[in-house]
Amino acid sequence: MRVVQTIDALKEAKKKLAGSIGFVPTMGALHKGHLSLIQQAKQENDHVIVSVFVNPTQFLEGEDLESYPRKEEADKKICELAGVDILFMPSSDQMYEKDELKIAAPAIRGYILEGERRPGHFDGMLQVVMKLLNLSGAQKAYFGKKDAQQLVLIMQMVKTYFMNVQIVPCEIVRDEDGLALSSRNVYLSEEEKSRALSLSKSLKRATKCIMSGELDTKTIKNKMLEVLKETDRVEYVAIVDREFNNLKQIELGNTIILVAARVGKPRLIDNLWI
Ligand code: PAJ
Repeated sequence: MRVVQTIDALKEAKKKLAGSIGFVPTMGALHKGHLSLIQQAKQENDHVIVSVFVNPTQFLEGEDLESYPRKEEADKKICELAGVDILFMPSSDQMYEKDELKIAAPAIRGYILEGERRPGHFDGMLQVVMKLLNLSGAQKAYFGKKDAQQLVLIMQMVKTYFMNVQIVPCEIVRDEDGLALSSRNVYLSEEEKSRALSLSKSLKRATKCIMSGELDTKTIKNKMLEVLKETDRVEYVAIVDREFNNLKQIELGNTIILVAARVGKPRLIDNLWI
């Protein structure tokens, strides 16, 4: 595996790869969720490039940019063992110039739910993902459904800008208790971790309701809120279609149920695609 820090070194390393490239962008502190994306990329491509870059432009003032978990040595080992060909770990100076052209998330889809709580977050996310996709030259790029709104916005960007890459949505990986894996889970104490389970439990409750024939989204949301009482603060429960329009009735095959809540320090998100 080649570990490269500069764009020039990435270009050089890429010259040695013949065949198709799958790309997995990350912010590091890799866990089994990231690993599942890497493994899927391995299966579907001749070569895999992973990036680890804690992107400053997607963090808001007062968010955890400085303290975001950084585990570079462990990340290198994980990528090496997973059979990654190139690990790209750039600095901010490599990625950004002063006063550069920006990408703006769409006014509605980019500024509801996560975008409403974190205004500007998706602009910075799209800006870096555009750069990383272009640099990777990959035919396929892998993103988790865990960040559903991020995934849908990236798919829209690729379509809007006629980008030559296929975005592959990947399933959410959870721990044995059902907690969706996240680099920010390290902030949780044991007691908080057990309360954090109420996010996935609320989604299970929603599944139960739907399986029993309940399709009214208001009723389902109320059932979910009962379970979410264990969190410190519910930020939102939303039931939307795959384009993030609110739904009154569940549409099987076209629905995403999303939840965001605070438990202790971190904001946690989880969702279910049905
Ligand atoms: P990061 O949070 O490191 O996540 C990198 C990728 O891993 C994203 O596509 C995310 O959805 C996926 N992922 C995280 N947890 C997962 C889980 N439990 N199961 C499946 N996939 C999971 O998302 C980002 O970084 C950044 O915004 C990035 C796209 C790299 C741009 O900076």
